Amino acid sequence: MLKIDHLSASYKTIDGNVHVVKDVNFEIYDNEIFGIAGESGCGKSTLLKTLYDIIEFPLEIDSGKVVLSGEKNGKPFSYESGEIRKSWWNHISYVPQAAQSVLNPIVRLKSQFLDSIPKEDRHNETEQQTLQRVAKYLEELGLSPDILDAFPFQLSGGMRQRAIIALATFMSPNVVLADEPTTALDVVVQRGILMMLMRLQRQFKNTLVLVSHDMGVHYQITNRMGIMYSGSFVELGKTEDIFNDPIHPYTQMLIGALPRVGDKSQKVGIPGRPPALTNPPPGCRFAPRCPKATDKCRSVVPEFCEIKPGRYAACHLLKPEVK
Ligand SMILES: Nc1ncnc2c1ncn2[C@@H]1O[C@H](COP(=O)(O)OP(=O)(O)OP(=O)(O)O)[C@@H](O)[C@H]1O
Ligand SMILES: [Mg+2]
Repeated sequence: MLKIDHLSASYKTIDGNVHVVKDVNFEIYDNEIFGIAGESGCGKSTLLKTLYDIIEFPLEIDSGKVVLSGEKNGKPFSYESGEIRKSWWNHISYVPQAAQSVLNPIVRLKSQFLDSIPKEDRHNETEQQTLQRVAKYLEELGLSPDILDAFPFQLSGGMRQRAIIALATFMSPNVVLADEPTTALDVVVQRGILMMLMRLQRQFKNTLVLVSHDMGVHYQITNRMGIMYSGSFVELGKTEDIFNDPIHPYTQMLIGALPRVGDKSQKVGIPGRPPALTNPPPGCRFAPRCPKATDKCRSVVPEFCEIKPGRYAACHLLKPEVK
């Protein structure tokens, strides 16, 4: 569904280039929930922007590309970076981070829905008929159609987030990108939003790409996930496998720091800080914090490769079992 082919992107700033996405190479499949995890500032949102093709100054793609391809209603489609925006709403949609603030507070929700449905997808309907379809869809999602007459500021945070998810999924796109959709919401509302996203993915059998720094969210709902560190994936595989048997030292430390029910052992954080992205270390970007780092780790960038079937990692200390 989405092929990310050796993609590198950076922000051009007066202090130099901030290399935020570095040689990212992986695929996201049809009919899966793919999670992207990693600590704040590691480039999750920037990667999502490149998938959605919002490449605006100061962000630039330095090399590589994203290909979105698949089939909708029997019609094959394929778009590359630079043309993916032609497929917005219809094949791919995006719930940005802090999405609640992207709704225009002084425009009623019904106008915001109408603006997001291209004319050619209205099948010669009147606005009233399109809004009836929207109202029916909201009801299916358990939302009151009355919200269409409301201004965004009249809704609670959770309700606004649900409305945005409804907006992003109304055209049943093949891919939905959601950036931290539950951050800043209380746990009960968080759960409701996650359940809604899961139900929609099951209903449409499409692809959901979910960015979250919260490992608990990934554990609950993603099928596969990638762990980002300083602009690249360090490990990628089935979520269950990553939690049960993390293979990259960073993932091991990350999973080891998570509290578990019944486990009374003292948890330790990962010492140090991620490197500055303007001047990253020459070898593995995790080497300065890695207890197992060797001289090679400090000088040669490890390749991101398949270690076990379906399991990828970038670490000199791991020997690929897959030829
Ligand atoms: N417009 C910009 N100009 C320069 N640097 C930027 C810009 N936007 C983001 N960055 C830098 O790029 C890096 C990655 O940012 P990004 O928002 O992708 O991280 P993130 O993983 O989504 O973080 P968070 O978990 O906090 O949302 C950060 O170091 C950030 O400071
Ligand atoms: Mg972010």
